[in-house]
Amino acid sequence: MARILSLDGVAAAAWATRGAGTPPDAYSGAAVDVSTASLADLDGLVALWTAVGLRFRHDLVAEELAGVLERDPDLVLVVEEGGTIIASVLGTWDGRRGWVTRLATHPDHRGRGLALQLVTELEERLRAKGCRKLNLLIEQHNAAVVPYYERLGYRRDDLIFMEKFL
Ligand SMILES: CC(C)(COP(=O)(O)OP(=O)(O)OC[C@H]1O[C@@H](n2cnc3c(N)ncnc32)[C@H](O)[C@@H]1OP(=O)(O)O)[C@@H](O)C(=O)NCCC(=O)NCCS
Repeated sequence: MARILSLDGVAAAAWATRGAGTPPDAYSGAAVDVSTASLADLDGLVALWTAVGLRFRHDLVAEELAGVLERDPDLVLVVEEGGTIIASVLGTWDGRRGWVTRLATHPDHRGRGLALQLVTELEERLRAKGCRKLNLLIEQHNAAVVPYYERLGYRRDDLIFMEKFL
């Protein structure tokens, strides 16, 4: 873990400025440390993403994490408790757009504002790099998370998503 940040009040303020209403009671006043991840966190991240049901290629995940960390080492953020990673967000910056991926909070730790704090910190870091617009993708089977992102200020845009494997 390269850096520890104390974010007292930051996330609560974010709820207010986004018109998201009152922050969750469980979060109010509760500070957690957001850290930048390293490749040593691979197993912890894989365990978290598996626990929350995020889909990924097990055979590629190490290579992909290494690639992201090489380009954006300050955008892979985690919350750890008792030596276990309980929440994550993996941000990327392509010079034009920022991307939010792998937002996850372990089911035992939801509703504490952990995802909110991670996204808030990621947004601040991206803004500091000159990023003016953030994108994220939600798989159809996970459409229930749309209202969550709306509360964080994200708006839906029905574009046609295309992809090609190389
Ligand atoms: C989405 C997720 C990261 C939120 O984590 P979290 O740390 O509990 O979020 P916060 O504590 O910041 O916010 C909690 C609030 O968001 C709401 N919320 C969380 N997940 C939600 C969802 N899928 N749909 C609607 N609302 C949701 C909670 O009900 C809670 O609302 P409340 O404050 O009114 O009680 C977590 O539910 C998760 O890991 N989901 C599975 C992975 C996933 O879908 N990631 C997004 C991929 S695009």
